[in-house]
Amino acid sequence: MSNAVGGTEARQGGPVDPPPTLERRGRELFMEELSLRELALRFGTPLYVYSLRAVETKVRAFRQAFAGVDLLLAYSVKANGNLALLSRFARLGLGADIVSGGELFRALKAGIPGSKIFFAGVGKTDQELEEALDARIRAFHVETTAELYRLEELARRKGVRAPFGVRINPDILPSTHEYIRTGQAQSKFGLAVPIAVGLYRWAASRPHLVPRGIDVHIGSQIVDPAPYKRALRSVLEVVRLLAKEGIRLEYVDLGGGFGISYDGVGMDLGELGAELVPLLEGSGLTLVLEPGRALVGEAGVLLTRVLAVKRAGSKTFVITDAGMTELLRPSHYGAYHPIRPVVEAEGREVCTVDVVGPVCETGDFLARDRQIPLPRAGEFLVVEAAGAYGFVMASNYNARLRPAEVVVEGNQAFLARERETYEDLVRGERILDPCPRPAP
Ligand code: LLP
Repeated sequence: MSNAVGGTEARQGGPVDPPPTLERRGRELFMEELSLRELALRFGTPLYVYSLRAVETKVRAFRQAFAGVDLLLAYSVKANGNLALLSRFARLGLGADIVSGGELFRALKAGIPGSKIFFAGVGKTDQELEEALDARIRAFHVETTAELYRLEELARRKGVRAPFGVRINPDILPSTHEYIRTGQAQSKFGLAVPIAVGLYRWAASRPHLVPRGIDVHIGSQIVDPAPYKRALRSVLEVVRLLAKEGIRLEYVDLGGGFGISYDGVGMDLGELGAELVPLLEGSGLTLVLEPGRALVGEAGVLLTRVLAVKRAGSKTFVITDAGMTELLRPSHYGAYHPIRPVVEAEGREVCTVDVVGPVCETGDFLARDRQIPLPRAGEFLVVEAAGAYGFVMASNYNARLRPAEVVVEGNQAFLARERETYEDLVRGERILDPCPRPAP
């Protein structure tokens, strides 16, 4: 499929060393010191499992690659908002990129200080703006003129000053899936440079607004440093123009979108740093990056049990207990995720199969025309690189229970989120006719 997210078209990136998420020992796959088979038996399936070691390896890789600048990593909460992961990010000194009041709530609850939180998004409500003002966040990333006017009004009423940056639209088209491109002129995201400059000028004289930075985010699953370099040049031009007028910004935020290796090709962070750092050296600016997928994607897997194997005409279907309700990416974007048996069985024929879920939709699949050793009912499969945009995009469609999430560190497994129950499914709902009807 052309331009599939993480599909085979994304070829211009470098070969990367994926973090050591899984290791085969004998016939079994391990995450850190724990057997995936044992985790599946202990916690049940479908199950998301995340390796903290793999997450921390990626944090270190970013910090090494950008050692030459003052870097603030603001983890993009939308990729995976689990509190266990967020609280580890807080401990490692990361900030957060949020896009809703709900994500603000999560980030604060996990211990990420307001001073490291950036609020993005094209449509923020007054209530969300007020909550973020109360949390004293680092900056609002403004995406419409109306938003800045409302922000000023709310800050004035509260008697506070609202720090902000404008998200500019640099009109850059990276090669990635059309649903996750955001930087081209015809996108709903960001503001054209002349409008942004006008807003900074207007805000400079308003006592309740503080221009603090500038923001750009060009898309997601990008494996080539070149569009980032172009985006950085664009924002630096604006920074210099404003500085000449006495409007001094503290930071440039280049957004997220750094691609991972779903299929052997991802963003080479060392190369990215080597391209970007020289442009920033001596500028006195803080560089903010908002990686989501790059920090957690390869660190997570989805474990699923085979329920049945079924042949239909020339097709073979492997039916699993996870599908589009647990991992939407394959059916929504045509995304590729590696799938392997958790335990290697001897003498299995390698077949071309569709791995499909139990949901009542033909589009419910985890993989199509995939060559894997033919599994048997009851065995476990692992869907890899599922740590980002996995659980967070899960749904209760077909009244399915959202899965449990487990975090692994060394030989410890921590239940970071319980599997939902039937009672969770109906929480907050009301029966219309609670009184028993009289018998006819
Ligand atoms: N910053 C902003 C302003 C964003 O909109 C996003 C993602 C990020 C940072 C983080 O991007 P990342 O580093 O994770 O690529 N559901 C899609 C991805 C949508 C991304 C939306 N914005 C997927 O499953 O591929």
